[in-house]
Amino acid sequence: MELIALPFRSRSADFEHAPPVWEDDALAIVDAPEFLDTSRENLEGVHEPPPAIECRNVTKWFGEFRALDDVSFRVDHGEVVVIIGRSGSGKSTMLRCINGLEMPSGGEVLVDGVRLANDQYVLRHLRERVGMVFQSFNLFPQYTVEANVVLAQRIVLGRGPQEAAAIALQTLERVDMLRHLRKYPANLSGGEQQRVAIARALAMNPEVVLLDEPTASVDPELTKGIMELVRDIADGDMTVVAVTHEMGFMRAAADRVFFFEDGRLLERGSVDRILNAPDHPSTRRFISDARLLE
Ligand SMILES: Nc1ncnc2c1ncn2[C@@H]1O[C@H](COP(=O)(O)OP(=O)(O)OP(=O)(O)O)[C@@H](O)[C@H]1O
Ligand SMILES: [Mg+2]
Repeated sequence: MELIALPFRSRSADFEHAPPVWEDDALAIVDAPEFLDTSRENLEGVHEPPPAIECRNVTKWFGEFRALDDVSFRVDHGEVVVIIGRSGSGKSTMLRCINGLEMPSGGEVLVDGVRLANDQYVLRHLRERVGMVFQSFNLFPQYTVEANVVLAQRIVLGRGPQEAAAIALQTLERVDMLRHLRKYPANLSGGEQQRVAIARALAMNPEVVLLDEPTASVDPELTKGIMELVRDIADGDMTVVAVTHEMGFMRAAADRVFFFEDGRLLERGSVDRILNAPDHPSTRRFISDARLLE
């Protein structure tokens, strides 16, 4: 065993006559709670893994128009966040900035601690980790349902044809679309297209799923099925950020709600608080207009 020289010992006046401090003793001393400041604040950024998503002062300009204005937030791993707000408030732009489809004009976005940049390696990191389901499906019209789900797995994740096909079948079964494998998107209903879009995102086994009004283009009957599917996803350990005004989903699956207005993240909080006791009059007005109150 080696003698461990501890700085607080070496300053001791009777150092020469002090009994030796052996490794085990030293470890016991250093491990003792009074020697360690384990407060969350002290450990932040040192021992804790980075959050799944972090936005720091994100601003986005489209010409003279500011679509996002100084937005900052963190989303933890496994957390489910719902974004609400009026049309044009910046919800889709926010999601597009998180998955690198738009680059912020100011501030920064970090996914799993990696800062987004217009760089092929960073964007690859992002594509491997973040799946997105768009407001308007965005399926490839020239490919069948099956090929739509296989393609990104092959290109982005480099999966072999057999593995990608097997995973495509599994995920399409999960969204009840096995019957439509050989169809093209144009021959599917809105709800069916959306289920394929969800399968395509899930087949990538993403850590983060971004959903942009997954039921916007779907009739009310299909909305329920899709939201149940999204709820299944949110129940797992994936991090989910969903733009949706579906109350059932919010109540059952969301951890927090963010309210956007004019590009700003005006208010955030638990589902219960935001829906029932919002601080800001704008949030209150929006919720009552949108009839989100029960
Ligand atoms: N590429 C673009 N070029 C110019 N303006 C844009 C662009 N994309 C979005 N905008 C504008 O930015 C604002 C925010 O758009 P965004 O799509 O984020 O709104 P949203 O909250 O998702 O609205 P909705 O509920 O209607 O989907 C809108 O006024 C929109 O017109
Ligand atoms: Mg939108």
